[in-house]
Amino acid sequence: MTDVVTTRDQDGIRIITLNNPPVNALSVAVVTGLRDAVAAAEADGSVTGMVVTGEGSAFIAGADIREFGKPRPKDAPLLHDVLDGFDAISKPLVAAINGVALGGGLEVALGCNYRVAGHKALVGLPEVNLGIIPGAGGTQRLPRLTGAETALDMITSGKPVRADKAAALGIVDAIADSDVVGDAVEFAKARAAEGGPYQRVSEKDDKIADDRGNAGLFENWRKKIARSARGFDAPWACIDAVEAAVNLPFAQGREKEREIFTGLVNGDKAAAQRYAFFGEREVARVPDIPKDTPVAKIDKVGIIGCGTMGGGIAMNFLNAGIPVTVLEIEQAALDRGLATVRANYERSVKSGRFTAEQVDERMARIEGTTDMGAFADVDMVIEAAVEKMDVKKQVFAKLDETCKPGAILATNTSTLDIDEIASATSRPEAVCGTHFFSPANVMKLMENVRGAKSSKETLATVMAVAKKIGKVGVMVGNCDGFVGNRMLYAYTRQANFLLEEGALPAQVDKVIYDFGFPMGPFQMSDLAGIDVGYYVREERDKRFGLTDKRTSKIADRLFEMGRYGQKNGKGWYLYDETTRARTSDPAVEALILEESGRLGIERREISDQEILERCLYPLVNEGARILEEGIAARPVDIDMVWLFGYGFPRYRGGPMFWADLVGLPTVLERLEAFRKIDPDWIEPAPLLRELAGAGKGFKDFAK
Ligand code: CAA
Repeated sequence: MTDVVTTRDQDGIRIITLNNPPVNALSVAVVTGLRDAVAAAEADGSVTGMVVTGEGSAFIAGADIREFGKPRPKDAPLLHDVLDGFDAISKPLVAAINGVALGGGLEVALGCNYRVAGHKALVGLPEVNLGIIPGAGGTQRLPRLTGAETALDMITSGKPVRADKAAALGIVDAIADSDVVGDAVEFAKARAAEGGPYQRVSEKDDKIADDRGNAGLFENWRKKIARSARGFDAPWACIDAVEAAVNLPFAQGREKEREIFTGLVNGDKAAAQRYAFFGEREVARVPDIPKDTPVAKIDKVGIIGCGTMGGGIAMNFLNAGIPVTVLEIEQAALDRGLATVRANYERSVKSGRFTAEQVDERMARIEGTTDMGAFADVDMVIEAAVEKMDVKKQVFAKLDETCKPGAILATNTSTLDIDEIASATSRPEAVCGTHFFSPANVMKLMENVRGAKSSKETLATVMAVAKKIGKVGVMVGNCDGFVGNRMLYAYTRQANFLLEEGALPAQVDKVIYDFGFPMGPFQMSDLAGIDVGYYVREERDKRFGLTDKRTSKIADRLFEMGRYGQKNGKGWYLYDETTRARTSDPAVEALILEESGRLGIERREISDQEILERCLYPLVNEGARILEEGIAARPVDIDMVWLFGYGFPRYRGGPMFWADLVGLPTVLERLEAFRKIDPDWIEPAPLLRELAGAGKGFKDFAK
């Protein structure tokens, strides 16, 4: 046997154990070992049945994703062939699902005759999240056990189910009491004693027969996923594959599955989604913060501000079981904030996400105060007060006096200088940024900002906090706007110039939406509040002084007209009072035209392609500067900020990954062309020039 597959016999049953830490992924070696072990047991006259299981806490977490897109050894067996081969085995083959059985892992189990699962087992086909469909029979075998509807649900969502549910759905045959392998051995012995033929999932038909020829069922599913699957290829392909399972004989359906799988796995979208899978994990490893850096225990948190942001931030901690004290200056604001938190939770009860008891439990963990003295015993404070430097400095000075030594003082500022804030305290080593994204209880990004004096322990702690509360923490450096907003400025600035030059908000927004963002820049501005943007600009002007670089004044004029966006029904668009439906407003178009005239710009037709390039290449260019300056350590840090904080389409991997796909020489060449239109702001970054010149991509960046 190979190192990764070991066997032992018990009462005539061959127990085949896969051992490929940490999650028993199906590497070439594992698949080879599994095939050989099953063949050896089949040939061994002393063996009456087999049990396949995984060492450690996982059964099998699926194909080894790291091997995708890489050359395979010529004689390496393919999992789907190995599993089809299981159907020719004459002895009962039982999967002992001791832990997660995901993707290829569940497919292995479905290739066995029977499945016995431990209570903690989790089974699912999450391939859709990687931009592919299950490629080793999963789309063909699962519907044969559960029926098409359940299979479509599991395969298009990628969501796994627990053992008890899997049993109810017909995916597993038995739940083990405590010893999964022991129970599976007994199960195999009993089947062997009864004698064959043993169940073969590929031959089952009763669950899918009724849906054969029912095209409406699949059409409904396509409609159902239309919104969430926009721009992705895999969810649609999952439906095609299950439809093939229902309508075609097994062998033909398997062929169809293979064809679809192969078409997806080598594509850009699947590559981007694999990159995102590993990227999400990679950003947790900050290059200069060793794994063994001590991490402070955060058992109680103080939050300053219980507005939209503070309340949303608090919910993350409450959900993770960490008590929170929120501070507001006035009792009325505090009452309002706490009521909003409860109302948000109650909405979750209505949607079925939480039970009323779970909400009560969470609300019992939150306390409101108007007295900072209540922060004396907290381990960490997150300040989410107004974005004004003088206010922040006063707050931090007072926090420094109030909080116990060692308590971390973090700010949720989205733009202000962390070092200046830290200078108001006697403990700059314990000060850093923890920048959440609105709505803070939903958006997964936590942009953690290091100050010049933040200690490694402080930074390691906030990264650990991000993990604890289910966020993707990305460590970034201190500069105006940090990574996300700094790049956003570069993008929205060009979007505004495009209006002056000939485009209208709806055209720009549509291009960005069609690229895959949830919304374009003007819709976003209406959602965030045109007034909010105005005050941010005002504060920036105060800090940096008015530069001689040109900026567009259209948004300022909307603000002056009292058009604040969705909140008062008019901004870049008009919003219906009851339905909130968005329409273009001739008054805004007139304002834009007037602005072009005032600037002496002759309006021109602007193509969708130009809009896309003009908005996104400057964003990428700013990303290059951020890398040069070390504000982000790696391109993947930037990409994860954009995926999890700004809704950059996951199937494009993030701006830096996407730019590599476009090709950096193209990005550079277009920026040079745009520079003629906007010499003030568009200057290709030296790093971009360097990489493009060397025929390299951001993926080759090494500081
Ligand atoms: N291949 C390679 N590496 C994998 C892997 C896989 N399928 N699944 C997990 N890993 C790695 C992770 O990258 C991570 O590595 P590092 O420690 O180096 O970062 C390590 O295993 C542990 O993973 P997590 O940090 O995610 O640990 P967790 O306990 O939070 O979660 C898990 C474990 C639920 C298995 C989760 O990792 C997961 O969801 N994995 C992916 C499952 C998946 O998508 N399977 C389908 C694969 S595609 C397929 O199978 C195609 C087919 O049809 C044959």
